[in-house]
Amino acid sequence: MSDKLLIFDTTLRDGEQSPGASMNTAEKLRIASQLEKLGVDVMEAGFPAASQGDFEAVSKIAEEIKDAEVAALARTSMADIDKAWQAISKAEKPRIHTFIATSDIHMKYKLNMSREQVIENAINGVKYAKSLTESVEFSAEDGSRSDPDFLCRIFEAAIASGATVVNLPDTVGYAIPDEFEKLVRHVIKNTSNIDKAVLSVHCHNDLGLATANTLAAINAGARQAEVTINGIGERAGNTSLEEVVMTLKTRPGCIPVSTDIETTLIHPTSRLVSMITGIMVQPNKAIVGANAFAHEAGIHQDGVLKNPMTYEIMQPETVGISSNKLVMGKHSGRHALRSRLKELGFNLSDDELQLVFTKFKELADKKKHVLDEDLEALATEGVLRTTDVFSLEYIHVSSGTSVKPIASVTIRINERPHEGSAFGNGPIDAAFNAIAKLTGTESELLRFSVSAISGGTDAQGEVTVRLREDGLLSLGRGTDADIITASARAYINGLNRLEFLKAHPYTASEAL
Ligand code: KIV
Ligand code: ZN
Repeated sequence: MSDKLLIFDTTLRDGEQSPGASMNTAEKLRIASQLEKLGVDVMEAGFPAASQGDFEAVSKIAEEIKDAEVAALARTSMADIDKAWQAISKAEKPRIHTFIATSDIHMKYKLNMSREQVIENAINGVKYAKSLTESVEFSAEDGSRSDPDFLCRIFEAAIASGATVVNLPDTVGYAIPDEFEKLVRHVIKNTSNIDKAVLSVHCHNDLGLATANTLAAINAGARQAEVTINGIGERAGNTSLEEVVMTLKTRPGCIPVSTDIETTLIHPTSRLVSMITGIMVQPNKAIVGANAFAHEAGIHQDGVLKNPMTYEIMQPETVGISSNKLVMGKHSGRHALRSRLKELGFNLSDDELQLVFTKFKELADKKKHVLDEDLEALATEGVLRTTDVFSLEYIHVSSGTSVKPIASVTIRINERPHEGSAFGNGPIDAAFNAIAKLTGTESELLRFSVSAISGGTDAQGEVTVRLREDGLLSLGRGTDADIITASARAYINGLNRLEFLKAHPYTASEAL
């Protein structure tokens, strides 16, 4: 059995199914190119039949990505598979990933099909996909709750029809490691032609067991793991790439497989995904959380100073957390900025660099030390924005203990400046009221969160808002050394994304 574990990243597909995480094409391309550098073997770029927006994003990714396989998801219908193939046909290494549910509960209530009908659909779907391309993956949705013998039957049929990968998902995050390991062993033992395909697993994290289940499956012989960056995904998310990869690297003797992941890019990739999707990483998240390498207790700090191995099972540098965090100041030039951004994974064109450089100089005037996190935020903001309808030109807010907060704001709407002011319960409320009045929008604010990107009172504030208007959801992010300006930027970013969604009405999750 091979000792290489294939990493199938589905951040752009299942990850995008995280509530409110929809990304535009430029953002998806940026993540795709980072995933390629990270060394994933396969990236699932989306579900082309779900919407025109998904179709376009998958097509663009397929044209750009050269090293990794680019997979497109499809149900077993010819229409879905045609759409998937149209989107990825230009890829250097295309893969069609087709799926149908195999648990009794899904077949009865969702599909209203018998087992025989499901098998027939799977065979037809795989055969059709195979007539279009060599690399075909078949997934048995809700596999962990399916009859194990039926699972073997359908995998056998899929492999006989041309599937090169068969995937066993724990779609609802119900499995527990011991049971899942036994199921994988059962499939390997009882699927007569399993040696002709790679066995894959795809776990969800509803009980917090996605990584444990994935590792148990690898132990039993699975050789592809389906994962996402930061573990984002439908509901409680998917298995996180960084947890699987770093477990295998940190405990090499326990499960003798390895991956081609460039682990020093894990942290920059995690930051990028978090900034683009607006989904914050919980501070205590393994590997990529802000506290993952922070030692608080005196006893621990003392031990780490004497020898890091006392309390550190991995070195932060291995996952790309630089111990030399102080990188740039107001005297740093364009060349230094370009090369630091390159190290952080941003290959900018001259125009993009100029944009970021201007923002960098503004920030360096306000803030003594500009850290990697600040640069990532500037680059992500400066380069990845959608073509904005609204942009913030000016904001002034008065507030205090005995003043009714009032905000005066100038916003460019399609390049024309509009001025206005509004009162509010607090300075941010006043700013948001003025912005809503000027833009004539009526979105509902569902979430508002503020965090400091780096330490210190001069840290850039990072604000995330979640908005809803006419059933459309969007996330907005904004950063600035001034928290009120950061909030206004986040709100305006969310409004721009709503405008984008109105023009491209889709979310990938609607179709699943
Ligand atoms: O969770 C799941 O079952 C899926 C399949 C489409 C692979 O995402
Ligand atoms: Zn899934």
